[in-house]
Amino acid sequence: MKIVIANDHAAVSLKMEIMQYLQELGHEVVNIGTDVAERCNYPDFGERAARMVAAGEADCGVLICGTGVGISIAANKVKGIRAAVCSEPTTARLVKEHNNANMIAFGARIVGVEAAKSIVDAYLDAEFLGGRHAERVALIGEIEDRERGCGQSEM
Ligand code: RB5
Repeated sequence: MKIVIANDHAAVSLKMEIMQYLQELGHEVVNIGTDVAERCNYPDFGERAARMVAAGEADCGVLICGTGVGISIAANKVKGIRAAVCSEPTTARLVKEHNNANMIAFGARIVGVEAAKSIVDAYLDAEFLGGRHAERVALIGEIEDRERGCGQSEM
């Protein structure tokens, strides 16, 4: 798989560990996060990674900031993105099976390296179940479409 990975300054070390882990698993990893400790803004990285996934330039994405929350909120502003914060593997499996999440996020201040690896494993090993879950994911897309129409008069 081609996986984009993005992070802010709070997650440089964990990003490096997870990037290497993904490469050892045989994935192609595109690192668009910061590699240095200077403060930066997680929305910039979340948006850029999300745009790559939305455009089909990556199969999925891994987002890491202090909590995983800020960078996932930013990514979720991009149409077609379903980024889910996961702090343990069960959630990581379910966000793929039920929500067809195309990005996962976690926090470098929340999970350690081994937990992060098990989250990534659970997500990558899972398959979207479709069926009733596909109907619900489609409803999420309809919310996006209504938002895009927001402020545009149809009269
Ligand atoms: C940076 O200090 C921190 O706010 C950021 O990494 C993240 O946790 C935000 O959600």
